[in-house]
Amino acid sequence: MDKSKRKAVIAGNWKMNKTPKEAAALLDELAPLVRNANCGVVVCPPYVGLAVALEKTAGTGIGVGAQNVHFEKSGAFTGEIAAGMLAEMGLTHAIVGHSERRQYFGETDETVNKRAKAAVEAGLTAIVCVGENLTEREQGVTVDLVRLQTKIALLGFSAEEMQMVIIAYEPVWAIGTGRTATADQAEEVCAAIRAQLAELYGQDVADSVTIQYGGSMNAQNAEELLAKPNVDGGLIGGASLKPADFAAIVKAASR
Ligand code: PGA
Repeated sequence: MDKSKRKAVIAGNWKMNKTPKEAAALLDELAPLVRNANCGVVVCPPYVGLAVALEKTAGTGIGVGAQNVHFEKSGAFTGEIAAGMLAEMGLTHAIVGHSERRQYFGETDETVNKRAKAAVEAGLTAIVCVGENLTEREQGVTVDLVRLQTKIALLGFSAEEMQMVIIAYEPVWAIGTGRTATADQAEEVCAAIRAQLAELYGQDVADSVTIQYGGSMNAQNAEELLAKPNVDGGLIGGASLKPADFAAIVKAASR
């Protein structure tokens, strides 16, 4: 497996944490720590922190992403933000289909597909989240389920558009629980996602897509997870709020 065909990307999902002022302070601390990163680095603060994040990361090489996008370009969708609005601000990425969105906000595979498509059409790289919950893992359906989630999320995507897609494998039982998937579990599912991509787009495209692992990835376990042939990066929640820890993960991905 030739990992040089794709970029390692470490993205921080700040979730509903950090006010704009706190975001500015975090980025002031983080930027110098990841200056020599040899991988993609992205931060995804809450919407209200995006402007200050763009200001603080200007010229640093750190990308800024949103945690969600709406699928319509504009209209009567109170409380929602269109992908084009975010792209115009200067954002580079958007997380789509995070399990918390699926769990608490009625996100389905179909809406994930629509949101991912809108993000890519607006010029944002979509970080598309897939993953099983604990019951599904115990039922032994993880690989089938994640392959299906991936397939539906990518309906209507051309091979060319796949260059604007990152898949994040995030087992729901590992998110925010301190219970990380073992490196072998992460590899098994990330490999299955790549096999699904190969089935849809051919091996060359599949080999060029970044597949992240997310779920309690931290400074201690990152190296082992990222050493796996199909784990190309991480989507980091809790540890992305601690600059030193996030920088250590970035360093592990830069090796
Ligand atoms: P965690 O969150 O690192 O806190 O487990 C990961 C995520 O939800 O993206």
